[in-house]
Amino acid sequence: MTQLKNDTFLRALLKEPVEYTPIWMMRQAGRYLPEYRATRARAGSFMGLCTSPDYATEVTLQPLERFPLDAAILFSDILTVPDAMGLGLYFAEGEGPKFERPLRDESAIRALTVPVLDKLQYVFDAVSSIRKALDGRVPLIGFSGSPFTLACYMIEGGGSDDFRHVKAMLYSRPELLHHILAVNAQTVTDYLNAQIDAGAQAVQIFDTWGGALSHAAYKEFSLAYMQRIVAGLKREADGRRVPVIVFTKNGGQWLEEIAAIGADCVGLDWTTDIGQARARVGDKVALQGNFDPNALFGSPAAIEAEASRILAAYGQGSGHVFNLGHGISQHADPEHAAALVAAVHRLSRQYHQ
Ligand code: CP3
Repeated sequence: MTQLKNDTFLRALLKEPVEYTPIWMMRQAGRYLPEYRATRARAGSFMGLCTSPDYATEVTLQPLERFPLDAAILFSDILTVPDAMGLGLYFAEGEGPKFERPLRDESAIRALTVPVLDKLQYVFDAVSSIRKALDGRVPLIGFSGSPFTLACYMIEGGGSDDFRHVKAMLYSRPELLHHILAVNAQTVTDYLNAQIDAGAQAVQIFDTWGGALSHAAYKEFSLAYMQRIVAGLKREADGRRVPVIVFTKNGGQWLEEIAAIGADCVGLDWTTDIGQARARVGDKVALQGNFDPNALFGSPAAIEAEASRILAAYGQGSGHVFNLGHGISQHADPEHAAALVAAVHRLSRQYHQ
């Protein structure tokens, strides 16, 4: 395997010394880039991009051609997993992801099993192809949705603003939800390990909807299953540790608990002060975040001031991976993203002396 030319991101995740704070952006390959929209038009659809290793490689590299980012992230989607389970993923124009066969009745739920991973071979092929194309430039991040976040889409059949069906199941038939979550946890463990085998050098678990749960339910229905996954992941490849990042959006009140499940890094959305978060988790984990993605709508000067504030709040030393607190907006100006990356690289050097 090629030697990494820039391993700043991996070192920061392990709290090893770095020269500057590394940065990548959630959803860094996406519609805010005109070159992404052009490739998607050629591929015909979003899933056309995901299922073709060549297209997936092309769009994964697009943001790296524009900005000196410190990590690449596999171009795919969390919903490829329930699709492989037979739920029938489709993207309705302007409506976001949907499933043809949402999990609503008991017999369908009982019939749910861990899918044959061959159905996701296109993802592993994309990982190998991207690793080759990167040629050691920066590390490649693999990812999956959390069992609970996947269950939200599987049960609701698409996005939701109240999670009515999920919560009805949680409060009336918790054993059915636990069955779905157990299948998801095993599937995600196998899926992430296969991404690691194919060449992913770090992995992130996206728990986008865990923060919609009550305090007690979060631990029982989301965190416990992420802990199961972390315990089952391969943690070394090519003689190097493969760090795990866990990101619960709106999870700021549970940082101590999240930091205790065995991951190397905890992702923060923008609602938590990163300095206070650091004090709360201590030496246990690195932190990733936590720039408000919509602060990219401010002027370049305002973006720089906000980046500076976050770097100062984290303070001296390693253990911070700069990122947005959630995915970049499709309406963001790429020039503003460029200003953010440059500001983080320039302003962070003073904290690593
Ligand atoms: O970060 C990256 O650049 C890697 C690619 C990536 C995508 N989705 C591509 C994508 C990643 C890491 C995801 C994760 C994902 N997908 C999550 C977890 C993170 C989060 O954002 O909360 C979730 C909940 C999904 C499910 C999903 N996929 C939704 C809700 C949507 C529609 C909303 C939207 O932004 O359009 C998608 C589609 C999707 N996934 C797009 C991209 C680039 C847009 C599709 C398009 O090109 O039209």
